[in-house]
Amino acid sequence: MKKRGSRTADTSAAQRAYHTLYASEPKVFDDPFAIQLTGPAWRFCLKNKWIVRFIERQYDWTMPIIGHHVARSRYVEEQLDKLLEKGFTQYVLLGAGMDSFVFRRPELSGKLAVFEIDHPGTQTRKRDRLKKLGIPEPRNVKYIAVDFEQDSLTEKLSETGFQADEKTLFAWLGVVPYLTEASILTTLKDIAKTVARGSELIFDVLYRSAFTQGKGTMTGRKLFRSTERKGEPMITGYDPDDLKRLLPETGFELTCVVSPDDFTNMWFTGRKDGLKPWKYTYVVRARVK
Ligand SMILES: C[S@@+](CC[C@H](N)C(=O)[O-])C[C@H]1O[C@@H](n2cnc3c(N)ncnc32)[C@H](O)[C@@H]1O
Repeated sequence: MKKRGSRTADTSAAQRAYHTLYASEPKVFDDPFAIQLTGPAWRFCLKNKWIVRFIERQYDWTMPIIGHHVARSRYVEEQLDKLLEKGFTQYVLLGAGMDSFVFRRPELSGKLAVFEIDHPGTQTRKRDRLKKLGIPEPRNVKYIAVDFEQDSLTEKLSETGFQADEKTLFAWLGVVPYLTEASILTTLKDIAKTVARGSELIFDVLYRSAFTQGKGTMTGRKLFRSTERKGEPMITGYDPDDLKRLLPETGFELTCVVSPDDFTNMWFTGRKDGLKPWKYTYVVRARVK
């Protein structure tokens, strides 16, 4: 990743903003802060209805990706609400990008500590953006700069008031495909050895077939090309069977796989806009043993 950080983080926010502003009702995920948090160029385009209509024609291949992005965000936040009732007190966003959870859920500030972990370049850009927009950083969020390819997550977390004995949900959305297998495994091991047993992790993954059949589809071809052009090539994919084998070696047990068909049944059937999640990516839930 370049020093200035991730451009795909801005794109993900732009996609949530587009969904919030222009998708048909009911929204799968409502993120009214995404339009402010995405980059200025996206903000300009998304505020102009005519440009949006043009983008919809030129970039209709992104629709399945948007479907996946809004589904994964909704899934994590719905699970978080359930885990809060079970005594979870910490929420760690790994590769948080332009996530706006802390701004959308101010009522949780007294009972949930939030840790946004991201590449230094991306995180600096987000915090500068917030300053320029005059949006104060909530008191219950700590920002921690970590490069998963270089830094130890355990060390960085321990420097910040993270409570190792509290039950914690980790969300790792839209990050694993960009990392090497070595840093994925190191990060998983770091999490498992740092947190209370029973803590959970939710992340999304590309199926191995995304790199073969998926790449042969219009969406796949353009997606891989566009992330490469942004300097963030997608390089790693796993099938659920790979993770069933790998996760226990890192201190986790796999508890749930949410496939694109599952998401379709949950939130996408009968939509007027025909939105559906891409069929080459899925969500995994795992628990610290
Ligand atoms: C596609 S964005 C997803 C952002 C956010 N989770 C979302 O769903 O909108 C990828 C994120 O992974 C982060 N990332 C990628 N490689 C990283 C690395 N080596 N260390 C830390 N963060 C990384 C980027 O900075 C960026 O925030």
